Parts: sequence; C-alpha cells; structure tokens
Amino acid sequence: MMKLRSIELALPGAAQAHQWMIDIWGCADGGQQDGTYYLRGSGTFPYLVSFSENAERFVRSTTFVCSAERLDAIARVAAAKGLNARAVTSNDPGGGEGIVVELAEGELLRFLVGATEVAPLASHPRYALRDVPVKLTHVVFNSADAEATGLLVEDVLGFRVSDRTKGMVFVRCNEAHHSTAFARAGFASLNHIAFEMEDLDAVMRGIGRMRDHSFAPAWGPGRHGPGDNVYAYYIAPFGPVIEYSTPVNKVDDSYPTGVPDDWTWPENRIDQWGISDKDFAGLRTAEEAFRFRREWESAPILPA
Ligand SMILES: [Fe+2]
Repeated sequence: MMKLRSIELALPGAAQAHQWMIDIWGCADGGQQDGTYYLRGSGTFPYLVSFSENAERFVRSTTFVCSAERLDAIARVAAAKGLNARAVTSNDPGGGEGIVVELAEGELLRFLVGATEVAPLASHPRYALRDVPVKLTHVVFNSADAEATGLLVEDVLGFRVSDRTKGMVFVRCNEAHHSTAFARAGFASLNHIAFEMEDLDAVMRGIGRMRDHSFAPAWGPGRHGPGDNVYAYYIAPFGPVIEYSTPVNKVDDSYPTGVPDDWTWPENRIDQWGISDKDFAGLRTAEEAFRFRREWESAPILPA
C-alpha cells in the first residue's frame, strides 16, 4: 500500500497563505500548531498541505503513507544505494513513524507508517462540500535529470514510470496513473501541487470561484494527455503553482510505458482541447520559488 498524502512547505506569511487557501481555493482548516498551519480536503487525510512560518520559501517534505513492509523495503534499498535516509516521527496531524529519503537532487520524500486518518469533512465555512478539494492527486517536481530520477524512484521506492513525454517523466505508486512526475527542467524544485476535485464540474466551478476573486488560470482549463485529467493551473499569491484537477486515470501492471513519440500534439496544441494559453514565463518563475531544504530531526542514520 502506498498513497500520496501531503506536502509540507515553509514560507513567509504562512497564516495569510493558510487563510487564502480556505477562503478562496476551497480547502478546509486542518488546524495549527507551533507556527505550522494545516489545510485539509474533504477526504480522510488529516491534512494535505502544511505551511510553516519561515523567512524563506522551501519544500520541507512530501509525504506518502505506506505499509510497514514497503517502508522496510525502501529503507533497505535506500541504505544499500547510499541515499540519505533518516528515521522520523511525525509531529503533524495523524502522527506516524517512518523515514525521510533524500533523492539525488535533494527531493525529500517522507514515508509514514501508522499515520491515522479522519472522518470525511462534514462542512466548510464558505463552500459546498462538492467544491472542496478531496485530496492531492499529484505533486510534481522539476529535475536537472528527470530520466535518472525516474529510474531512481523505480529502484529505491518501487514506484513505476507510467509515461515519458518530451517534458515529463510520470510516475505512479499505486493504480493512479501518476502521483508524482519529474519535469525535464534543468533544475530541481517544486513544479506544482495538484488538488483532486470530485469531478469536471468541480474543477470548472473552482475556476469560477477563482474568477470571482480576480484570479485567472496561468494554464487551462484543458485536458492532459498522460493521466487524461482536466486541469486548471494557478500561481498562488504566496508563490507556488497549484492546480485543480479531476482524478487521473487508473492503470494496472499491463499498462505499456509510453515514450515521447506516443504523446505528441498537433502544432500549437499542448492539450486535448486546445482552448487555452499558457503563461510559460510566469509559471517558470513560480516553479523556481520552492527548492528543497533538509530539516533532519535528531534521529539516527539508518544502518546499511
Ligand atoms: Fe498536474
């Protein structure tokens, strides 16, 4: 068992960012403790995103929940491959124990066992539950060498590459087509955070809600090739690129790993619909905002 759960960010103005995500984006309040503010969705994870107050912006970790067997396997292989991997106890809602693995370009992935879930959301102060993001559907990173990182996460984490395109390596950790992807960007950073909406209408109503608050998509709405999800990307006022998305399609072991030639577009098209422009420059700037920074807790290095 392996599920993408949450991403943990540090940034200045964490409280304001948290309020914006509730009032405008449509997340629900997941509480706060010690300068860290939590946002939840309508589903059963205690939170999806945390914002820790800090003078600088960075990604603290991206968290997956998994079985004890998977955790043991990852710890063993990570140690054998010489990757940094540290034991951690989560102080975030849901708790849990596990490890943080540092990938080759500094990406910090946290794997937790025993993290608890909660009852689905009962209400939201402003919005109907059908308009609240359910969970994260994917977190995408920029990479200097996306190909190498794709192979590394297959080797060490037991993830599988679902598709390779000219721009991205899409990776799955369960039956969802991708829970993460690595963009061939030339540098390592957070590319974007995608929130899963109930359906296409919920994505479109999200776009309307953002329009009510004078925010236009930086890209979208559109429908992607790999994953077949409907999307709308925004540059959040506090920095990162965030996305409303429908669920990505489901695949199984028989899914043939696509190559870039399987995913080409007609000229001037970059999605299935071809109805929207993309703010390449604005997105690129936003994608550079959040790099990775280690915050090792005082825990022992795992034995090889
Ligand atoms: Fe996405």
